[in-house]
Amino acid sequence: KPMKVFVTRRIPQEGIRVLSKSGVFELSVWDSDEPVPRAELLKGVAGVDGILCLLTDRIDSEVLDAAGPNLKMISTMSVGVDHLVIEEIKKRGMRVGYTPDVLTDATAELTVALLLATARRLLEGVQEVKSGGWSSWKPLWMCGYGLNGSTVGVIGLGRIGMAIARRLKPFGVKKLLYTGRAPKPQAAEVEGEHVTLGRLLSESDFIVVSCSLIPETRGLCDKAFFSKMKRTAVFVNTSRGPVVNQEDLYEALSSGQIAAAGLDVTTPEPLPTNHPLLTLKNCVVLPHIGSATYSTRGIMAELAATNLVAGLTGKAMPSELAL
Ligand code: GLV
Ligand code: GLV
Repeated sequence: KPMKVFVTRRIPQEGIRVLSKSGVFELSVWDSDEPVPRAELLKGVAGVDGILCLLTDRIDSEVLDAAGPNLKMISTMSVGVDHLVIEEIKKRGMRVGYTPDVLTDATAELTVALLLATARRLLEGVQEVKSGGWSSWKPLWMCGYGLNGSTVGVIGLGRIGMAIARRLKPFGVKKLLYTGRAPKPQAAEVEGEHVTLGRLLSESDFIVVSCSLIPETRGLCDKAFFSKMKRTAVFVNTSRGPVVNQEDLYEALSSGQIAAAGLDVTTPEPLPTNHPLLTLKNCVVLPHIGSATYSTRGIMAELAATNLVAGLTGKAMPSELAL
């Protein structure tokens, strides 16, 4: 009897090809660009051996129960795993595949783009051109902040944080600070200095958040956090929305407590179009597109599918999450 797999979305062909080629699955795909409604997810997973999901699907005990006793593994097409209730999955002896590394470069590039767009006010500038606000070249107009000679603080110097640091250094960054539980040997490559959060906040001209969302980082960027930043500092988050307390961020941005913010992730996603943050000129919000290059998404789908095939056929997964 073939094993059953539920794929929670239309994914790049590279992924489907791997699943079909393996020949061991009866595939069921929620064939839409939009997330599978919860009720359809619960129906779709009934009796399956494996689930290939995305970061928009919350996989909790309700889903695991709906799947039933055949379910052996969850493969997520993402590096973040905060949408998976790991404790429940672990308790039931299931395995988890994810997609680290393959999206590191794309996400780091997007972070640099967002940082520069925010600090140099690109979106505001475009708006001025379109609206006729551009009356002349003016010495005091549309000034922002540059990286040359600056201090950058990275919160979470993991794979993606390191890739961001490596890219920022050539812009003339003078000092690179980072926080985290312990100093990291690989920080030497970017001359990173391990410091307390307090020091990072008070000294950095740019603060980049690239940590994972875990209980310790939920709401980390709050009123106290922003109040320790320089008034000229730029805040960038490309990790997960809930790391930031958005009300506190709005207050810090609108009161001039900090200079600007660039966000690729929000709470919720999508951010409602009438959200207060979207009324601020000094806040640039992107729709969670860190890994969104054609090639990266193809490779993510392929890796997620390869993990699933390996996990269900008793082989070593290329990227298994240590539970
Ligand atoms: C993107 O945010 C991912 O976790 O892959
Ligand atoms: C800027 O365009 C300059 O020429 O200074």
